[in-house]
Amino acid sequence: MELESQAFEVLERLGINRGQIVLDFGCGSGTYTIPAAKIVAEQGRVYALDKDKKALDELMQKAELAGLKNIERMDTSGELKIDLTDESVDVILLFDVFHSYYFPQANDRRRLLNEIYRIMKPSAFISVWPKHMESEAKNEIESADFYLETEYSGTLVHDNYDRERGKILNFRKK
Ligand SMILES: C[S@@+](CC[C@H](N)C(=O)[O-])C[C@H]1O[C@@H](n2cnc3c(N)ncnc32)[C@H](O)[C@@H]1O
Repeated sequence: MELESQAFEVLERLGINRGQIVLDFGCGSGTYTIPAAKIVAEQGRVYALDKDKKALDELMQKAELAGLKNIERMDTSGELKIDLTDESVDVILLFDVFHSYYFPQANDRRRLLNEIYRIMKPSAFISVWPKHMESEAKNEIESADFYLETEYSGTLVHDNYDRERGKILNFRKK
């Protein structure tokens, strides 16, 4: 199976649907952004947020080639403030980014979770692939007023170039 189809299947299993508004936080060059945009289709939108401009350039080229017009690029400087309004997003992806390599300080991870909480609709969920800090991530997320709803274990696409077994956790607001 192609990497993109594999990522597409993972997102469908996680519960992303047509018409939803998705934020892919730390999207990189779009391993999951492109399939998410295909799933939510024209009625939906995917915000692609990253601090790596080159990765976002690559992503937007791929989006153009695929004829996708529902991806909105969000360049940042790595700040924890997300430029989206309160309760405006259905799904937030945190894939291989919520961990101590990018956020060494626990209080920065907590600030990020608070910001994510703010922009989530009451019915929204977050999907977290907590690569590098599996059990600590679950505890930290639960203590930031989320509850674990489902877990998905399977083959995941890593950074657009390989596959590996991993676990994704879906949380909702308490
Ligand atoms: C390991 S890559 C994962 C990319 C993608 N989520 C995937 O699964 O293929 C982590 C990405 O998070 C981005 N990132 C890390 N810290 C960030 C921050 N504070 N704000 C925005 N992007 C960040 C990095 O630039 C990088 O592109």
